[in-house]
Amino acid sequence: MHLSLIRCFSWLLLVNFACSGRVMRKLRDHVHRFQYQRAKEHLLTRAVSGNRLMSDVKEGVIHQRLDHFDSQVTETIPQRFFVNEEHWDRPDGPVFLYIGGEAAISMMDVVTGHHVDMAEEHGALLLALEHRFYGESINPDGLETEQLSYLSSQQALADLVAFHHYIRDHYELTHKNTWISFGGSYPGALSAWLRGKFPHLIYGAVASSAPVKAKLDFSGYNKVVGLSLMDEAVGGSEKCVNAVWEAFAAVEANLLGGNETRLQKDFETCEPLDEEDQTELVESLADIIMGTVQYNREGAPLSIEKLCTILTNKSEEYEQEEEAYDRLVKLVGVYQTAMEEPCLQASHEQNILDLNNTTVKRTGFGERQWYYQTCTEFGYYQTCEDASCPFSRMLTLQAQTELCPLLFGVSQSSLPSSIAFTNQYYGGDHPRTHRVLYVNGDIDPWHELSVLRNGTTMADKDRAIVISDTAHCADMSPARFEDPPTLREARREIAQHVAGWLKAAAWEHL
Ligand SMILES: *[C@@H]1O[C@H](CO)[C@@H](O)[C@H](O)[C@H]1NC(C)=O
Ligand SMILES: *[C@@H]1O[C@H](CO)[C@@H](O)[C@H](O)[C@H]1NC(C)=O
Ligand SMILES: *[C@@H]1O[C@H](CO)[C@@H](O)[C@H](O)[C@H]1NC(C)=O
Ligand SMILES: *[C@@H]1O[C@H](CO)[C@@H](O)[C@H](O)[C@H]1NC(C)=O
Ligand SMILES: *[C@@H]1O[C@H](CO)[C@@H](O)[C@H](O)[C@H]1NC(C)=O
Repeated sequence: MHLSLIRCFSWLLLVNFACSGRVMRKLRDHVHRFQYQRAKEHLLTRAVSGNRLMSDVKEGVIHQRLDHFDSQVTETIPQRFFVNEEHWDRPDGPVFLYIGGEAAISMMDVVTGHHVDMAEEHGALLLALEHRFYGESINPDGLETEQLSYLSSQQALADLVAFHHYIRDHYELTHKNTWISFGGSYPGALSAWLRGKFPHLIYGAVASSAPVKAKLDFSGYNKVVGLSLMDEAVGGSEKCVNAVWEAFAAVEANLLGGNETRLQKDFETCEPLDEEDQTELVESLADIIMGTVQYNREGAPLSIEKLCTILTNKSEEYEQEEEAYDRLVKLVGVYQTAMEEPCLQASHEQNILDLNNTTVKRTGFGERQWYYQTCTEFGYYQTCEDASCPFSRMLTLQAQTELCPLLFGVSQSSLPSSIAFTNQYYGGDHPRTHRVLYVNGDIDPWHELSVLRNGTTMADKDRAIVISDTAHCADMSPARFEDPPTLREARREIAQHVAGWLKAAAWEHL
């Protein structure tokens, strides 16, 4: 195993979450490109102010056992990692481990971000480990269904344990090197679980926007989307959420009335709409709004404020009920232009072909892999069947879970018990962990599945930070001029906890 020096940029992918829709997947890629650009600019500013630029970043590969829990399985799986020694205070400085998730990682994960700022302050060695089956960390046949049975959060945690051992050997680390883990979204949950399961290896953990509770029917997601659209602090209003309601009702009316041709023309769908594309169309339209909320001011092409301005800009020229529909048409047009998309994806058949494609793609988000994990471990299906959802009842749990048997032969009836097991195994939203910091934004729909309250008993030492007016994983990016004061304060608090842990660890090591 060797480490090689890196000379060029690769894709930055701050890990984030996905929905089933292709529009959401495209939006994620857009957000990632934006964050990459922002990180690059941040680096260049630092370079101008005399800092060295990534002189010490190395890339390596470790060959893990394909199955950590069955010694009869002798195959291996390659796993990529990055190391940045630039700030490391040898030999006893701490180790900051950035955990990868459902997308490729990049060298930027050890070069910019709040964890890097803290590493600089504390002289930490920076590591990032890619998640098995995502990015470059996959065998050529890795997307075949039989291979996917080796993809799970339990295997991923065991990978992290083996990686800890490998780095410890390679850098001749001792008990004096205090390890702290970081992650956002699914990797945020991994960060919390790693500390919870392996407290002898990891001293403390920051878990940003971490949905630690698995949930089959995640109707709470769209409940928060509705509330965020009403939140005046971020440019929402009651008028705005009502406009969404009316617009989706009008879309449904057109579908029920057999007016597909009109929808297809107005929303400029890529293919003519079939009967089976109805749900897909509604999903694509909802994705635009869901994504705007989840990534508000985190790189989405529209903000909640802009979206609400378009949806509520009433004029006298229109009939009342037509008005909301036309506003949605306009919104989708603005969105598609910003995304440089020629047409709106709404083909159910194409969606299934994409998810069923076993050709390994080494960049970006792993859509097939992630769908597999929702079918076998987490659920997280963002449904719209209860009254709090502002979209359409057509977005059912049934529509999302029927892909599990279709794509992977995983029966729908197995889902409840798999998800219950995940919560048994990790503790759901009452994990009773010690020295784990759960950080969430109140605009972000994923906070519903995280830890939002401090523990109240001696045994339960969970610490929670809830940031007003911020979206998904906002605390993880480096500080920006336009950050709201609540976000600045949250980063200060996170930094205080990390400093406190390192101080306590140093005392223990005296
Ligand atoms: C179909 O759309 C047209 C406008 O393009 C509208 O005049 C008509 O009322 C719609 N029909 C139904 C059944 O909704
Ligand atoms: C609002 O509507 C007016 C009149 O139709 C139009 O001139 C203006 O551009 C619209 N503003 C936005 C933000 O859509
Ligand atoms: C997925 O691909 C496999 C193998 O190519 C094929 O047998 C199966 O029918 C496909 N499933 C769907 C739903 O298209
Ligand atoms: C699968 O994806 C690859 C790479 O994106 C593409 O070249 C190929 O045509 C796709 N296969 C199918 C059956 O769609
Ligand atoms: C958790 O406790 C700390 C310190 O007592 C407090 O400052 C913080 O507001 C609490 N967090 C939540 C989410 O209640």
